[in-house]
Amino acid sequence: MSENPVKLTKLAKCAGCGAKVGAGTLARLLEGLQVHRDPNLLVGFDRSDDASVYRLSEELALVQTVDFFPPIADDPYLFGQIAAANALSDVYAMGGEPKLCLNIMAVPGDMPSQAVHDLLRGGYEKVYEAGALITGGHSILDDEPKYGLAVTGFVHPAKMLTNSGAKPGDVLLLTKPLGTGVLTTAAKAGLAPPAALERAYRLMTTLNKSARDAMVSHRVHACTDVTGFGLLGHGLEMAQGSGVELEIHVESVDLIPEAAALARVGILPEGMYRNRSFAGGFVDPGETELWQQDLLYDPQTSGGLLMAVDPEDAEALYEDLRASVPSAQRIGTVREYRGGKFLFLKDRRRSGGVL
Ligand code: CO
Ligand code: CO
Ligand code: CO
Repeated sequence: MSENPVKLTKLAKCAGCGAKVGAGTLARLLEGLQVHRDPNLLVGFDRSDDASVYRLSEELALVQTVDFFPPIADDPYLFGQIAAANALSDVYAMGGEPKLCLNIMAVPGDMPSQAVHDLLRGGYEKVYEAGALITGGHSILDDEPKYGLAVTGFVHPAKMLTNSGAKPGDVLLLTKPLGTGVLTTAAKAGLAPPAALERAYRLMTTLNKSARDAMVSHRVHACTDVTGFGLLGHGLEMAQGSGVELEIHVESVDLIPEAAALARVGILPEGMYRNRSFAGGFVDPGETELWQQDLLYDPQTSGGLLMAVDPEDAEALYEDLRASVPSAQRIGTVREYRGGKFLFLKDRRRSGGVL
């Protein structure tokens, strides 16, 4: 890590993917826009998926996505790595391989050039680790720094994974713990325990590449990455897109303990409230406690992959993931939609069920 005099997060109004425009607001803004169709456009912006996919041939499709946001860490090198890992993740979530990246950057005129250099170096190194290339980009002056990537990747059109293919009976797997939004918000007020914050940074700089590589050798029906809308926001998109409902076993979700402690005392990012007001009406919270729900709505930056896996392959994929991702979790099951709510939270420790 580099020593730097500028406190990057002090220049940011909200941290990382927490700066995302709420899902409800976004839907309203897009409403009424003319959507042009093309038979080769397999996934377009009307599908609320992670990236768009365009078929070039029977064997090859392009995957495209862009993601950028204000600083989530004070260290510019770390911020660069996190922003890059996060942008690349949308290609992994589609089952694709990222290949070409363009920097997208806004910097204050007085930001030290060493800091800008470190930020870009973080991005370059992460992209290189992903086996992709940065081939250019565009920068503007802005009081609030921002950084991210437009990413182009490839996928076999028949092997592309969307968030709308989940089937009743599927097992839900998740690959990173939750709580990074709470911790980075607490950090802005100096309230995050340093070791927990370090762990959150490590999680956010971890590519979803291994998760993707494990996933594509099994029968996975749907996938999305857990980012700004939180587990329940992205879970809702999967449930609605697939026409199914999800049962989420809250006791099986890996919640960063220090984030849970902060959530219990009400230290929560603004994005959590936005996510709750967007998705809350579709969620049956069961007997779960408010702080648990809060963490399931916590906006993640560079979060893990959420997969709906064929029950016959779930155990094998889970074992593969245990060896290759930060935290392999079996967090629930997919059920036939019965009308009404789409997400059902269960704490099987409370309801006395069998674990
Ligand atoms: Co995504
Ligand atoms: Co995205
Ligand atoms: Co330009």
